[in-house]
Amino acid sequence: MAWLRLQAVAAVLAVLAAAGVAHSFEYHEATLDAIQLGFRNGSLSSAALVRFYLDQIDRLNPLLHAVIEVNPDALRQANRADAERRRRTATGTLHGVPVLLKDNIATHDALNTTAGSLALLGSVVKRDAGVVARLRRAGAVVLGKASLSEWANFRIVKDGWSARGGQARNPYVLSASPCGSSAGSGVAAAANLAAVTLGTETDGSILCPSSFNSVVGIKPTLGLTSRAGVVPISPRQDTVGPMCRTVSDAVHVLDAIVGYDKLDAAATRAASKFIPRGGYLQFLKKDGLRGKRIGVPNELFQGFGEKQTSVYKQHLATMRKHGAVVIENLDIGIGSEDIVTDEWTAMLTEFKLSINEYLADLSYSPVHSLADIIAFNKAHPIEERLKDFGQTILILAQDTNGIGRVERARIRWLKELSAKGLEKLMKEYQLDAIVAPEHYASHHLAIGGHPGIVVPAGYNEKGVPFGICFGGLQGYEPRLIEMAYAFEQATKVRGPPMFKP
Ligand SMILES: *[C@@H]1O[C@H](CO)[C@@H](O)[C@H](O)[C@H]1NC(C)=O
Ligand SMILES: *[C@@H]1O[C@H](CO)[C@@H](O)[C@H](O)[C@H]1NC(C)=O
Repeated sequence: MAWLRLQAVAAVLAVLAAAGVAHSFEYHEATLDAIQLGFRNGSLSSAALVRFYLDQIDRLNPLLHAVIEVNPDALRQANRADAERRRRTATGTLHGVPVLLKDNIATHDALNTTAGSLALLGSVVKRDAGVVARLRRAGAVVLGKASLSEWANFRIVKDGWSARGGQARNPYVLSASPCGSSAGSGVAAAANLAAVTLGTETDGSILCPSSFNSVVGIKPTLGLTSRAGVVPISPRQDTVGPMCRTVSDAVHVLDAIVGYDKLDAAATRAASKFIPRGGYLQFLKKDGLRGKRIGVPNELFQGFGEKQTSVYKQHLATMRKHGAVVIENLDIGIGSEDIVTDEWTAMLTEFKLSINEYLADLSYSPVHSLADIIAFNKAHPIEERLKDFGQTILILAQDTNGIGRVERARIRWLKELSAKGLEKLMKEYQLDAIVAPEHYASHHLAIGGHPGIVVPAGYNEKGVPFGICFGGLQGYEPRLIEMAYAFEQATKVRGPPMFKP
């Protein structure tokens, strides 16, 4: 009997082998669920997955400039993950999964952490960033570092350009902007150069490149994810979040990286009350739009092309069809232009303080202060393209003198703008979310430390992707995930990149 059964199994296996495809793992567009299934059914190993992404990087990075460094230790880490799986000591969805990190997220390994700048090349960090420590505990493989707009938003030169990374390109339309600052993370996720990626946001830096590269980006509530070991701009606004091809993947990554970190104690302690028991996966609900109250601030939807505008209209109809109460013609009351001047002025002060603190905490660095960085750029004008991009913002930041009476008042004013604007609107209409095109809600979300999730929404006449953002108040991740997931499942907009000229 047993022998007969074995024969039957052998026959089936022979048929499958002949068919070929049944055994082979589909690497392109692989989701974390597919990867874990592949690991379990034996069609995939972590080492094979790492080799696939390294090969993708070899082939595509000369065109896309999304990756600054690959980890020479990635294959060894993958082999170790495979061995752990064979011994059945492995657990969790990120185990054995190659993750690409924005180059401002520190790793205590062979990789450099430079925020794309040559000034930080050779600097040595004391430890992994808080989020990287969590990824390693989850068994993830660190694949490498993603390029970014240099100095995150500060030396904002050109979307996606850095001295070390070069010009990152949008894989859908090569001549279109990939946006920034987390350009490499968005491009790499979109073009299958990594399984999942991490980006960071101070104001728009996850939401915008996610939108422009047709990936899902989560900008978490301030302090939900640790900023320890992340090259900073403003501790009042900085946050680390996933950029992935699907909502489900992004939520898996979010689950792995949230939590208290004693090196970012105040913010992560304050936000830890928002982390739901059982994590975020429970909110991946197909009917997640049902009963949700979604506000549409008119002013954010102005100035888009005909196609994009009509696609957004269709999406609002889809949300209604899936049971959401969509309230149009709302007004946040506070315009982005009311925010930016005070926001930027506050950020300049905060940047000088926090970058100097970051540099002081390195075990070795060629530069020790913002003043040193400015001097470095002056000494390397060609490599840092000083003539094209200057370094006005760095100099303005250097001219600030800490947080005194004026700065405190400015920061209080920003909190008030958030309270009088987005927070008031959401309470008044009892909203679960506002929706906004692309990253257009980013200022409102930034100044309040509020979360947002961008989901692919469409492609314009030229084939350039655009996203839609679900934004909420601090701690609203559970309902934002419900809406984002239900919307993604209802629309399935994302397709792989076409590399049009
Ligand atoms: C294993 O799972 C993957 C999905 O991750 C699938 O593509 C593949 O065909 C499966 N192989 C076998 C032998 O079941
Ligand atoms: C880090 O930078 C140094 C140059 O300072 C370089 O030699 C090394 O290859 C870089 N590391 C990686 C992993 O690329």
